[in-house]
Amino acid sequence: DTIFVLNGPNLNLLGTREPRIYGTNTLADITAMLEQRAKALKLQLDVRQSNHEGELVDWLHESMAKASAVIINGGGYAHTSIAIRDAVAALPIPVVEVHLSNVYAREGFRRQSMIAQVARGSIVGFGPLSYMLALDAASHLCKGAGA
Ligand code: DQA
Repeated sequence: DTIFVLNGPNLNLLGTREPRIYGTNTLADITAMLEQRAKALKLQLDVRQSNHEGELVDWLHESMAKASAVIINGGGYAHTSIAIRDAVAALPIPVVEVHLSNVYAREGFRRQSMIAQVARGSIVGFGPLSYMLALDAASHLCKGAGA
């Protein structure tokens, strides 16, 4: 099985971006940790990042033919994007939302996620571990679905 791991805007800056909130691991560091865990789970990963809403929508569409599950950190678009929400809702495969930071312990505008409303579940607040937990969840979900 292949899992798409889609990362939204500003996540290319991880490592130097607001390290007190997001930590010092880069997206490449997180990807390396995920790849290691994926190998143990016998899963293939396709990890991508874009700062562009439409590109994320295109990748969600692409996942339908290529992936058994999607992990998505929508970044700021999680809170605003009806287009990304609708693309997630259109998918027949399970989607797990992740955030590094605890979005419920921050500004009020981060408490609503458009993606959470259509995802199978969300994992927030554990830093890079959020992604690892999401990968375990995605693994269970795609095996449970017989994919
Ligand atoms: C984030 C949380 C969002 O609110 C924020 O806009 C981000 C990062 C996270 O992973 O904690 O860009 O998605």
